[in-house]
Amino acid sequence: MYGNALLAVSTVFVGFASYAWYKFTSPIAPGLPTAGSGSLISRLKAPEEFGKDPVEFLCKMRKKLGDVFYVDLILVKFVFCLGPEYNKLILRAAEEDFSFWKQIELLSGPRIAKTITDYEWRSPSMKIAKSSLMSQERINGFAVECTKIADEHFSKWTKSESVPLFQSISHLVLSFMLTMLMGEDFYRKYGDEIVPKMDQFERDLQNPILRLLPWSLWGLSAPGRRHFQIADRFKELTCAELDDILKNPELHVGRTDYFYGAVEKMGNGFREHYGTHIMSMVFAGHANVALTVPWMYLHARRHPGAWQRVHDEAVLDSSEPKPYLEACLRETGRLYTNTFLLRMTQKPTNIGGFEIPAGTLVACSPLATQRADSINSSDGIFKDSRRWLPERFLPEGAYSEWFNKAEFIQFGMGPHQCPGEKLAKTMVFEVVLRAWMENYDIDVVSGLEEGVKGIDGVGAEPAWTEENFGTPSVRGGDVMIKCRRRA
Ligand code: HEM
Repeated sequence: MYGNALLAVSTVFVGFASYAWYKFTSPIAPGLPTAGSGSLISRLKAPEEFGKDPVEFLCKMRKKLGDVFYVDLILVKFVFCLGPEYNKLILRAAEEDFSFWKQIELLSGPRIAKTITDYEWRSPSMKIAKSSLMSQERINGFAVECTKIADEHFSKWTKSESVPLFQSISHLVLSFMLTMLMGEDFYRKYGDEIVPKMDQFERDLQNPILRLLPWSLWGLSAPGRRHFQIADRFKELTCAELDDILKNPELHVGRTDYFYGAVEKMGNGFREHYGTHIMSMVFAGHANVALTVPWMYLHARRHPGAWQRVHDEAVLDSSEPKPYLEACLRETGRLYTNTFLLRMTQKPTNIGGFEIPAGTLVACSPLATQRADSINSSDGIFKDSRRWLPERFLPEGAYSEWFNKAEFIQFGMGPHQCPGEKLAKTMVFEVVLRAWMENYDIDVVSGLEEGVKGIDGVGAEPAWTEENFGTPSVRGGDVMIKCRRRA
């Protein structure tokens, strides 16, 4: 009997191993070059090298293999299409060619997938999202509420010997997002509970274990369990808030938050989706805004004269132009934002002469396209591309007009171009930097190895693949800062 069981287990194991081997060795499309081609060792090393610095890895592979190749990360395969023309091809494509929603569905798990595959909800909710996020009146009101919150956070940081830079700014921006999306009262009531959970939710979603497990088994893993608990708790809170709006409308008159606006338009019919929809909005907006600020600060404090110029513009009235801040935001985005933007092919598609089958994940990499140097390579765009030089984007700089072009993509292009751009700039310039520059001084206490680690010797490495889909956080320990109220 044991013999039979052993035979069955060995057969399953051999079957599984053969299938894994077949999947690993069979190319996505005939002739399509693969990163790490050659020996088995070099194939197995590709995911490791990609994990260390995907942008550098992609630049290297592009030189070796051309603009279109695939990377097998064991758990998932991506076809990368690099360069401005492919940025355009992928980002401007229609849903029925390269699907935006299918890749979101695949990456975001069963709870969010349920919401985005309800077509009656998806289209109107995205319309509401776009008009609401872009309303200047809303953004102005929201800036006032968030300035108060920013001051509270900075003030709290002054009471500690040191605080972690990336995590503190991240929680501050999550607090803004919760206020903007659910209202200040909701933030005051639930912020302490929900902000750390949202942070965890984003990190869990990127845990490789969840890429390995089918959705039905997510609940067996710690990140999967936490993911469900957070989504369910947030759904419970949004349903309670919805019920209160419907039962006591007079108590909510005058509310300007996103959720209230959505309920006014969509009513009670979609109660099961509000929670996951709001969490997706947090997910869409938080990392890029929050993590741009620490990288901008760490570079600007090393770049001669930059921090003073940031200060001078951050304290100006919101109606004044802020070219240096704009340039710093662009330069930080050029080096850190959008490692890859994904789509899924909906039918067999010819890309660069290769027949890519339906259901393949294809990606452009704005960062790899922007990091190739124009001096050293024919496909480069920026001079001194590996240095943080915001002056290149000033009106008198060589790249002053370069923004949201196929060569430099920060806020996307095409049908899914970011509707949160204005809001993001308000959060960074008018709220965080203004509150900081008007009243506080910050010094780095520890956690940097300047001249040794990171882009342009900034002192810290980005956690390119560990912690987020957008702008990365810091790899390893956080950078510790001391915050003081200015006398
Ligand atoms: C520095 C800040 C930000 C950057 C760099 C950024 C970047 C981007 C990019 C590149 C895309 C396109 C993704 C793709 O085509 O696959 C995008 C889409 C989107 N962003 Fe942002 N974003 C930022 C802030 C925000 C904020 C504050 C929000 C507010 C919630 C937001 C909401 C969205 C939404 C909802 C989409 C999807 C739009 C659609 O599907 O039509 N973003 N963003």
